[in-house]
Amino acid sequence: MELVAHEYADLGPLRTRRTIHATHSEPPDRVEEVVLAVIRTATGACGSVVDVGCGTGALLRRCAESGHVGRLIGLDTSAASTRATSGRRVVALQGDACALPLRSQSVDCLLARHMLYHVSDVNRALQEARRVLRPGATLVVVLNMHDTTPRLAQMLSSCVRRDGLPLPAQPGVDADTIQPLLAAVFPQVTKTTYRGHLVFHEPSPLAALAESLLVFYGVLRGTDQHRRVAALVHAAAEEWFEANEGPWKDIKGWTVFAATAT
Ligand SMILES: C[S@@+](CC[C@H](N)C(=O)[O-])C[C@H]1O[C@@H](n2cnc3c(N)ncnc32)[C@H](O)[C@@H]1O
Repeated sequence: MELVAHEYADLGPLRTRRTIHATHSEPPDRVEEVVLAVIRTATGACGSVVDVGCGTGALLRRCAESGHVGRLIGLDTSAASTRATSGRRVVALQGDACALPLRSQSVDCLLARHMLYHVSDVNRALQEARRVLRPGATLVVVLNMHDTTPRLAQMLSSCVRRDGLPLPAQPGVDADTIQPLLAAVFPQVTKTTYRGHLVFHEPSPLAALAESLLVFYGVLRGTDQHRRVAALVHAAAEEWFEANEGPWKDIKGWTVFAATAT
């Protein structure tokens, strides 16, 4: 099974990452509030919203709870995601960002939050977004800045190398490299940018976050290698807090792009 499918067959690691970013970011990471505000402006709480790569479905549930009365659709390649997203107000579909199972010009707001890293043909996904959006409708893209959380990445790379594994190529698209691709398909784009830090005062959330990312370093869950590298990651976090005063601080950032379909 390829790495992305393996990773999202179980949403546990994604839930861990979401919780840790929501509780250990300074200043507080309010990415969902930013996206909900863009949705409200784009749809007036009435239009259709499609969340491509909807993950846990949490954002669409928040949208429903905030009084959105239009259609709410979650779409994801992962069956675990569509099971988690499907509910009273939210329809969930299994499908791919590069071949959306949606009619042309039928959507008022399409979201692609933290998912284009996993798409091999980003231009194709943007063309699909433009096809399904009505003229004047909005595409919302969220991507991390290039080189986000570099200390964490360095810690993970060093643990994986110590176990003798080669490092796989890291995702290509980020908040910088998306910009010319987006501008080529959507001439009108606005941006909201966050820059802050992940801050840890003890080793356990740092180790939990690092462990939740191991699949992206080529370490599959349920293997002996995962058990070994996870143990190295937990030891590295403990050792850092034994050797340093703390807190552990790591730069992080993301951009929310709101693009208008012509
Ligand atoms: C990092 S998670 C982000 C989940 C959610 N958008 C969030 O921000 O919490 C990426 C999600 O995109 C999904 N995904 C990956 N490639 C996809 C594709 N080609 N089409 C649709 N969904 C995809 C994964 O299954 C996963 O649920």
